[in-house]
Amino acid sequence: MKSILVIDDEKEICESISMILEYEDYEVETSSDVLSALKKIEYMMPDAILLDIQMPKMNGFEVLTWIREKGIDVTVIMISAFSSLENAVKATKLGAFDFIEKPIDRDKLLISVRNAVKQAGLKKENKKLKESIGDETVIIGESVKIKNILETISRVAQTEARVMITGENGTGKELVARAIHNGSKRSDKELIEVNCAAIPNELIESELFGHEKGAFTGALNQRIGKFEKANGGTLFLDEIGDMSLQAQAKVLRAIEDGKIERVGGNNKIEVDVRIISATNKNLQEEIQEGNFREDLFHRLNVIPIHVPALRDRNEDIPALVEHFIKIVCDKNGFPAKNIKPVGLELLKKQSWTGNVRELRNFVERLLIMVPGDEIGDSDIRQYLSGNNSKQDELLNISNSFQEFKENAEKAFISKQLDANSWNISKTAEILGIQRSHLYGKMKKYNIEKDG
Ligand SMILES: Nc1ncnc2c1ncn2[C@@H]1O[C@H](COP(=O)(O)OP(=O)(O)OP(=O)(O)O)[C@@H](O)[C@H]1O
Ligand SMILES: [Mg+2]
Repeated sequence: MKSILVIDDEKEICESISMILEYEDYEVETSSDVLSALKKIEYMMPDAILLDIQMPKMNGFEVLTWIREKGIDVTVIMISAFSSLENAVKATKLGAFDFIEKPIDRDKLLISVRNAVKQAGLKKENKKLKESIGDETVIIGESVKIKNILETISRVAQTEARVMITGENGTGKELVARAIHNGSKRSDKELIEVNCAAIPNELIESELFGHEKGAFTGALNQRIGKFEKANGGTLFLDEIGDMSLQAQAKVLRAIEDGKIERVGGNNKIEVDVRIISATNKNLQEEIQEGNFREDLFHRLNVIPIHVPALRDRNEDIPALVEHFIKIVCDKNGFPAKNIKPVGLELLKKQSWTGNVRELRNFVERLLIMVPGDEIGDSDIRQYLSGNNSKQDELLNISNSFQEFKENAEKAFISKQLDANSWNISKTAEILGIQRSHLYGKMKKYNIEKDG
């Protein structure tokens, strides 16, 4: 079923469009408040959006600009009662797919939506094709750590076991989840992804389990939740550590019963899903702090896979760099380039707090910015600007050697705390000092989370 999001401040318009489209078997969501509509766009990822131009708070053009700036790939049809040529031109310039005048003509609407959905489908297929060429789904790495992960993946993929993937941001957790799904018996069905951190708390239940028409104010239509959508396939609960306790209880019940209930519904629906979850949080700590249910943790954590930080397996860097060079050059039509061995050595020495994602972005930046087909260590030094400017900044704010040492110590400790998700014991261990000593330093330098 194709999903359409209608955004119009006039509720009647939302309702009449949704009636027309639902009759033709589209799944329709509506939003008459533009700010909540923005959130919906992000987590719903509809096949097409119908977007009104004149709205309070933010007009349709601003919404469209926001969509493009966020890099959200969705087909948008603009609707307006004021059909000036100027509006139509502006809409096209901003990348709108079509422009429909109010009052809405049923046939015109249906044709436009059908074409928009078709175009979105083609785009998706194209993207899939491109990805398979550059093979962005393959997991690269020569370290023992990655080899062990690959072995675990091949061992568990064919089973029905629930898998919990942990690791810092950008280490490749999603890649691991996809590899498990692709290697499983469920690979002909979908992998449905839920970003638990992106969904507002009050909506997570309806996102996961769906709702019946009229279940709550604003539930104009029935909606199928992610559990049902993943039926027969895999449900990927990303950022599970950010799920509210209330939603955790419901997920636990769904797992125990193998059934779900739509919000406002009164019968149970059987669902057959395999759950893979991921988080960059330390769930043991979250359990201790009362933020995560221990029983749910044990249900989900049947097979744990920890993806180590890149700095702990820097022998993977040369192969990853080669892989990203190939992808980036193919994508941009660049002739093949290479990074000199001294350059690779330099890359291996960086701490990569953003892990593989940061490395990938850095390689992309080098390939685009450095002329010629050979990239050396001096080029790399120049673009490792983040680190250099940090050093300059330290020099600038320090009036004496003592002050410089203290500022550097403060920066180093903050960075390590960040890299270890503010896990004090772990950070102290890595720094080779006692926990109490680390606390003392944090107090001395006023180091606090988020600032
Ligand atoms: N071993 C790897 N081989 C090839 N590409 C990788 C590898 N690990 C990560 N990547 C690439 O790095 C980027 C980040 O990976 P991914 O999105 O899977 O990380 P993540 O752990 O889910 O991050 P986050 O915690 O931010 O959600 C992606 O472009 C992915 O393709
Ligand atoms: Mg991820």
